[in-house]
Amino acid sequence: MKPFRPEPDSLTYLKEAGRQEGKAQEIIPQETRFRYIGKKIRRVDGSLIVTGKAPYTQDFYFRDLLYGKILRSPHAAAEVVNIDFSAALSHPGVMAAIKLTEGRIRYIGEPVAAVAAVDEDTAEQALKLIKVEYKVLPFVVSEDKARQEGAPQVLDSPNVQKLFEYTRGNIKEGEAQADIIIERTYRTAIEVHHPAETHASIAYWKDGRLTVWDSTQAIFSVRDQLARALNLPASRIRVIKKYMGGGFGSKLGLNDFTLAAALLAREAGRPVKIVMTRRENAYCLGNRPSTLITIRGGAKKDGTLTFLHMKNFTGGGVGRGDRCSEPLMDIYKCPNVLVEEYSVFTNTCASRPTRAPGHVQGTFALESFMEELAAELKMDPLELRRKNYSEKNLGDTGIPYSSKGLLECYRLGAEAIGWSRRNQIPGERKGKIKRGLGMATQIWWGAGVPGTLADLKIYPDGSVEAICGTQDLGTGTRTYIATIIADTLGLEPQDILIKIGDTDYPWAPSSGGSQTTPSVGPAFRDAALKAAERLKAIAAKKLDCSPEKVQIELRRFVNMDNPEKAISFNEVARELRRVTVFHGERGDLPAGFAYNSFGAHFAEVEVDTETGKIKVIKVVAAHEVGRVINRLTAESMVIGGVTQGISASLFEQRLMDDNEGRCVTTNLLDYKIVAFSDIPEIIPIFVDSPDPRINNLGTKGLGEPPRIPVAAAIANAVYNALGIHPRQIPMTPDVILTLLKKEAKP
Ligand code: MOS
Repeated sequence: MKPFRPEPDSLTYLKEAGRQEGKAQEIIPQETRFRYIGKKIRRVDGSLIVTGKAPYTQDFYFRDLLYGKILRSPHAAAEVVNIDFSAALSHPGVMAAIKLTEGRIRYIGEPVAAVAAVDEDTAEQALKLIKVEYKVLPFVVSEDKARQEGAPQVLDSPNVQKLFEYTRGNIKEGEAQADIIIERTYRTAIEVHHPAETHASIAYWKDGRLTVWDSTQAIFSVRDQLARALNLPASRIRVIKKYMGGGFGSKLGLNDFTLAAALLAREAGRPVKIVMTRRENAYCLGNRPSTLITIRGGAKKDGTLTFLHMKNFTGGGVGRGDRCSEPLMDIYKCPNVLVEEYSVFTNTCASRPTRAPGHVQGTFALESFMEELAAELKMDPLELRRKNYSEKNLGDTGIPYSSKGLLECYRLGAEAIGWSRRNQIPGERKGKIKRGLGMATQIWWGAGVPGTLADLKIYPDGSVEAICGTQDLGTGTRTYIATIIADTLGLEPQDILIKIGDTDYPWAPSSGGSQTTPSVGPAFRDAALKAAERLKAIAAKKLDCSPEKVQIELRRFVNMDNPEKAISFNEVARELRRVTVFHGERGDLPAGFAYNSFGAHFAEVEVDTETGKIKVIKVVAAHEVGRVINRLTAESMVIGGVTQGISASLFEQRLMDDNEGRCVTTNLLDYKIVAFSDIPEIIPIFVDSPDPRINNLGTKGLGEPPRIPVAAAIANAVYNALGIHPRQIPMTPDVILTLLKKEAKP
């Protein structure tokens, strides 16, 4: 079998999705008051989740279920010469074995073969009985070493390759106009997703159809990729996902072990379950690629940016890494920009999209640079950002933003943190423990995907079903679906049965790119409006008025002119006489506008100059994402994003052993993440203003934005405290102590 390289969904669909044509669907006016939308609504499935009753993929069992395991390469670079399954297959309880590769192996952990057995222990033993003959080859796992002349070549092409370039204006002209020019280099380490629920798949074949239960952010994309890999019509494959414990991008698309489960199930004629271990999660299921970003830029004395030049070397293992220049190209008004991005290939597993891919690393560099530039200019760093504020995308040279609430984020965030308390001169305060304040700006997409479908089914007994093939990553999808329908039809969220996570349901995009709410929400709003129209027409006849005079109240329809006259929701539904389906669709994005979300984070930190330890005291996270649908889950999303950002800023780094080519951070002790005691007060603020044309709810996505500016806000606060910028994440105590020592030298 040819090696199967999983292709995680790229985030280019974010922009392709912006099919800029057609008319906007009618938007709910800003002043409209709702019973549920915009309020704090508890999850409709909250008690199911916290009592352990919500079923996750690995909780499902089927008759005759087998357990699969993956044999992974122990070599970082090798040629597979031969695979011998005879001993494994004659082991009692082993039901099937398959090759997953032939030829070249490029990292430790690359899948080589898979087995299915009657239980996990037997499968584990069988792996040890597979005899693989390798021809071991030279390798390189460090990005710095991979860039050097004579380094072992990772692919069949050079280790350093152009990833992206962009030019506008002329940076030479920008240099000539600048009063101050600085150049700074920033580094970000590799971060691993580590969702609470590890990856898992179950596959079985029945009546010529393959069914896959998968912990995935992208059921339709898993289906379509399986169809291609197995050469089957997509209609012969069904992918189901019920509950999920996060993905953060690591579960966007088909995994090699999912395909292995399908192949093993076909071979054995029985269902096969494969669950990834925490260890596998740590070293061979993707990560956020590293970056080495240099920004050179200049400004006039008053802070006006004249040019920005960015160079990035991104380390995505055997993958291409992340483009990180979007924030720099877009956020600030700047006429002259040059971007050069390069992939650096190493013998480590391919990176995958990770919550706001590229924007996290690019924003750390750009926003740290802005802080350092402000200091050179002796300007308030927030003023520098206001000075270069843009109304149009691509740094004010493109099309206008449909809506942009960033100035409000600046104002509200600065007020909430007490921005005037910051050190006027970085590092000016004396003492062992030093405090500082810093801030950073964020931009993301998240307009939603036109063409998303949703069905609303109303039964003659008044029961209501919402059906859509979207998937909930753990963010609360079911709740906002229920909320939107409830508000449109005069029901309560608990009244609505939600059916999601199945490719046999109407199409919805992958849950990535902060797209789910602005795709699925508007589609259900559309379906519910169509249902409301029909129900109002029925009610009008009973109430002796025109449909326009029918008002929807809680579980009843009322004649506006004669409020005595009312009819219950159930009585109206009965008149439908049969189960009726209302089809909703998320409308187009009108052309001529850029659709982005914005935010600004403000952080307060304390740095212990003796231990080098950073303590984050407070984070104010102000976001503009159009209309907020559920304030409770929105606040949770922000608190989660900030927490994950603090974790990556202070602790997280995947470390490799250069000599062995092996990952050494394969558990959650060695790969340190944030603990409760590290989490400060986090204050979410929303500029709650519906976008005038983005979709019928006026809402933008919020999944990724709160993850983006955290590291820069903290690093800038550290700079404000110490007068030294850390310029790398994670900002571990040794990094800070080394900087303080360098500074102390005469
Ligand atoms: Mo996200 S990286 O689009 O799950």
